[in-house]
Formats: sequence, C-alpha cells, structure tokens
Amino acid sequence: MAPIPNPQLFLAAHPVGYPVPDRDFKYDTSESIDLETVPLNGGFLTKTLYLSVDPYMRNRMKEGGWALGSLFEGFGIGEVLRSETDKFKKGDILYGTLQFKAYQVWPADTTFRILPKTQDIPYSVYIGVAGMPGQTAYYGLKGIADPKAGESIFVSTAAGPVGQLVCQLAKAWGLRVLGSVGSDDKVEFLLNELKIDAAFNYKTASTAEELKKFGGIDIYWDNVGGPTLDAALDAMNTFGRIVVCGHISVYNQTPEERYGVKNTYAMIYKEVKMQGLYVMTYADKYADEFYATVPKMIAEGKIKYLEDVTEGLEHAPDALLKVLKGENHGKEVVKVA
Ligand SMILES: NC(=O)c1ccc[n+]([C@@H]2O[C@H](COP(=O)([O-])OP(=O)(O)OC[C@H]3O[C@@H](n4cnc5c(N)ncnc54)[C@H](OP(=O)(O)O)[C@@H]3O)[C@@H](O)[C@H]2O)c1
Repeated sequence: MAPIPNPQLFLAAHPVGYPVPDRDFKYDTSESIDLETVPLNGGFLTKTLYLSVDPYMRNRMKEGGWALGSLFEGFGIGEVLRSETDKFKKGDILYGTLQFKAYQVWPADTTFRILPKTQDIPYSVYIGVAGMPGQTAYYGLKGIADPKAGESIFVSTAAGPVGQLVCQLAKAWGLRVLGSVGSDDKVEFLLNELKIDAAFNYKTASTAEELKKFGGIDIYWDNVGGPTLDAALDAMNTFGRIVVCGHISVYNQTPEERYGVKNTYAMIYKEVKMQGLYVMTYADKYADEFYATVPKMIAEGKIKYLEDVTEGLEHAPDALLKVLKGENHGKEVVKVA
C-alpha cells in the first residue's frame, strides 16, 4: 500500500480573546504514513474516528499552556489497525487521550479503555455523556454535591454534555431541576427531551428572577461563573452546596476583564459550601461505578443526549470556536474518519 497523508492539527499562536482558526491553528497535511509498513516497535497503530473539543482547551491554548507548534490533544475514539501487543488487537475500539491526527503509532504501555462492541450506544457518545464530560457530572454529583431526593438544583450550561447528565441524574435521583441555557431551542430541549422541571434562556430572562420563581436552591452546579454565580449565591438555601465545575463566561477574557464575584457574603449565615471540581481526582473512586451505570442508562433510553457533529479534522478549530461561543447544540464532536 502506498503512503497516504496523515493530517494533523497544531497550535500556531496563543490566542487573545476568542481563538481565530486561520491564525491560531495550523492544519498540516505534509506528513504521510504507510499503514501496512510503518514500524510499530512492539506497540500498535490506531486510526482516529472521533475527537472531542472541550472548553478546557481554551486554557491550554493560552501562553503558559501548550507550547507553540505542539499537536492538539484531547479525548477521542480510535480503532486499532495493527498491533504487536497482546493488550490491544486489530479492530478494538479505544477511548482515551489522542493527538489531533488521523493515524498514530503508540508504545505498548499506552493506556486506553477498550469500548464494548455493542451497537447500543454510538462510539461518539463515549466522548460525551458516557465520557469525560459525563464523568465530570457523575463524579461532581456524587463526590461534592451530596444530592438528596426532594432537594432542588440549578444547573448552568444545562444543555452541554456535563449539564445534560447533571440534569438527568438529578431528575432520576428525585431532585427538582432548573436549567439555564443561551437559546430558546436549548430551553425546549431541556423541557421536552430531558424533562427537567424548569428552564430559561439567560440571554433574555433575568437569572435572579427565574431563581426567585423556582424557589431556593440546595445545589448550584456552576459551569459559567460570573454574574450567574452571584445570582445563585443569593438564592442558596441553608447548608446549600455549590459545585464549581467551570467558568466558561470568563475563559476568553483577560484577568482584568473578568467579572469579580461579589456575593460570597451570602455563604456565611446560610453555611453554604462551595467547592471546585477536577474530574480526574475522582476517577479511582467512581470510574468503575460510572461505566457500570451510565452507558447502561443511555442504552436503555433512561439518559438522553444531544450531539453536534462536525465532519473533518480540518474543521476542528471551528468546532472549538462553536463551543466557546455557545453555538454548539449538545456535545461537540469532530468526526475524523
Ligand atoms: N472541572 C472539571 O473537571 C470539568 C470537566 C469538564 C468540563 N468542565 C466545565 O464544564 C462546563 C461545561 O462543559 P461542557 O463540556 O458541557 O461544555 P459545552 O456545554 O459543550 O460548551 C460550552 C457551552 O457553554 C456555554 N457558554 C459559552 N460561552 C458562555 C458565556 N460567555 N456565558 C455563559 N455560558 C457560555 C454555551 O452554552 P449556552 O448556549 O447555554 O450559553 C456553550 O454551548 C465548562 O465550563 C467546562 O469548562 C469542567
């Protein structure tokens, strides 16, 4: 077989403000690979099927994060084309950290999860609600939020992959759920598909008013930071818990531009607990439980999901920009092959 192109995506510049595809990324097709003869040196060769673009990538792109000229990497799904290790065999579908390139040779000691070959769940979902974003939701609810049936929870960015699972697990566990999102069709999705109790568009409604209408909240799942966090702080019930999962409203701002949270005084007499979440910290404790629970719930239709698929590695920069601007509808997935 003749060598074929092995396209890849590099970081070309550290963005200031929102990334600019033509300036900050370099899509390069100059490398080629012969899939039949490329040496494996005891390792294995994968073809990239799907790549995940996630909000955290914006932080990696800034000065002090990924070095200029480095390959993008993130969670993805790959298929094993050839292998010289017993750990993985030809045809295995793997989930783990992939570089943003079409084909890759890996050393034998690389860690990946082999996905089940059932057709119950499309493989792409394993980078969404059944992957890292879903784990974030599951781990944060179990490890920090301490939800109890009858309590109420407010979830910002509720239609993204993290928010989708937080909302649905909270509903399944007997909580009242309020979600905020940035468009009316996302509101419809939350109410009609995820069947949560209430939802609003934070761009056209007042978050403080919506929280008042809903009643006090026991848990706030914070995906955005900024004024939404201030409004939630005011609405917390006594002994409320705030899971600080993300601050996407400030990811594209300089430290000087960032909104400073004002209402932390509201925590004092209500004895509110606010805790940051880093998904990886909880993997040892909850990963087995997550994989035993969530994919099964998805296969049984008990957990719904929405995906937004962008075709082609060359369009990964646009896909990331969509996420950072709120133009994605559900988990943003790049289909590479
Ligand atoms: N702590 C951890 O370990 C961990 C792990 C994974 C993810 N996260 C965080 O969890 C959050 C959700 O992640 P995801 O993967 O589910 O993302 P996502 O929903 O796919 O992506 C981004 C969404 O954020 C919203 N958004 C964008 N700019 C915004 C702004 N200026 N103000 C308010 N909302 C804005 C948009 O939704 P709307 O249209 O609704 O505004 C957009 O669709 C992110 O903050 C992410 O960084 C944290």
